[in-house]
Amino acid sequence: MKNEKIAAIIPAAGSGERLGALENKPFLLLGNKPLLVHTLQKFQECSEVNEVVLIVRGVDLRLSMGLVSEYGLTKVVEVVEGGKRRQDSVFRGLQVLDRREVSFVLVHDAVRPLLAVEKVHEIIKATREHDAAILAIQPKDTIKHSNGTSFVESTLDRSKLWLVQTPQCFAMEILLKAYQRAMEDDFAATDDASLVERLGVKVKIVEGSYDNIKITTREDLELAELILRRQLSPAA
Ligand code: CTP
Ligand code: MG
Repeated sequence: MKNEKIAAIIPAAGSGERLGALENKPFLLLGNKPLLVHTLQKFQECSEVNEVVLIVRGVDLRLSMGLVSEYGLTKVVEVVEGGKRRQDSVFRGLQVLDRREVSFVLVHDAVRPLLAVEKVHEIIKATREHDAAILAIQPKDTIKHSNGTSFVESTLDRSKLWLVQTPQCFAMEILLKAYQRAMEDDFAATDDASLVERLGVKVKIVEGSYDNIKITTREDLELAELILRRQLSPAA
């Protein structure tokens, strides 16, 4: 497609409270390199992605810029300071991209280092067709609804449920409008698509992979080591 620019925003400006390590999650080692490096390398490798904007905490700016240069992550065009919530961090990335004439934007958690590059291509393809797409997997467990008490209110139909991952991908003008609207309305959400859904845009679901876990707690890091070993083994 002519003059089509695709950018990725990588939010890495959280504080990793649920994992509770001394170092912030994106800088913890997985195999022989930081989580964040694994993640950025996926976008570096993906031929369709032109630019990456990395969002980190102020205290991590120097360290992050050092990693970007050490690992030759040439697609990273800016490293900027994040905000209080994930939503604030992503919004800062969008403001950077607003000046850079981007057609499509991917948003991907820094702490999902096991993403397959193939899935990035799939979600970009779906976004060209539908303007908004997310990666998601179907739950393996039965899910019940409790209405906030310790008693079951109802059992949900598992075949209609999706566990949402990143990347999520959108036409740039749609995501920017969704964020501006959410900020004006003081509307908070835990994923980007929720903000786009509020505009009435239909979000396409693309089947993700069970490998693409988010490193949230200590156990996730152990699991990630296993998945990485399998991904790297020639027999896999
Ligand atoms: N994130 C961010 N800015 C924030 C909060 C989160 O950029 N203010 C990023 C995290 O660095 C992470 C992604 O959003 O890459 C997903 O967030 P999560 O897994 O919740 O990470 P943390 O917020 O760091 O962890 P916790 O919620 O346990 O404190
Ligand atoms: Mg968080």
